[in-house]
Amino acid sequence: MLAWFGIEPKGVFYLNLFENVGNHHPQMNKTKLAHYLDPSLPRYHHILGVVRNMHDLLPRIKISQKWKSLLIDACHLHDIGYSTKLNQYNYHQLDGAIFASKQGYPKCIIATLLFHSCAFEGVLYSRPDLKEIYVHHLSLLDDKDRMFIDLVSYCDLHTTATGERTTLQERIDDVAVRYGEEHEVTKIMFANEPIFEEIIARVKTMIKG
Ligand SMILES: [Fe+2]
Repeated sequence: MLAWFGIEPKGVFYLNLFENVGNHHPQMNKTKLAHYLDPSLPRYHHILGVVRNMHDLLPRIKISQKWKSLLIDACHLHDIGYSTKLNQYNYHQLDGAIFASKQGYPKCIIATLLFHSCAFEGVLYSRPDLKEIYVHHLSLLDDKDRMFIDLVSYCDLHTTATGERTTLQERIDDVAVRYGEEHEVTKIMFANEPIFEEIIARVKTMIKG
């Protein structure tokens, strides 16, 4: 059961996705994912590519086995909000986080879905209607949440739209080609480039020499 913490004058409900976080850990995998996203579409293969990149990254960083398993789940889930079955706000990071909260995933996974790959900056840029929801949850993030967001974003930024490994620059260039230079998605991508570089730099400090 999700908690609702207020109604603003326009009648928009504001969620507290962290209030009833689950202690159990329902695992996501590619079979379950196919229930939400069509395996014939590139998005599904992008997600599996992000999972592969996380599998490659995890042996190079020093964190507990339990957290590693949570990070694999977070990668499987990170773009599940694109599922038409889950669309409520037309913002996949928020729709995915609502799904994860309802499923009883831990806070670090809900936070990752909500904030990965500059979701908050995207809200500030183009979705002022979601700003209060994001500001509220931003204030509740702890160091573990922020590390999870960084690690999944790092893998996301290094995976193409169809699941192959890539570089940040190639990914930005690809978005510009697919959407066009003047499209909002491209403009947000360009605007966020310095923040993406900061994420990558933080993760590189975690990678064992
Ligand atoms: Fe992604």
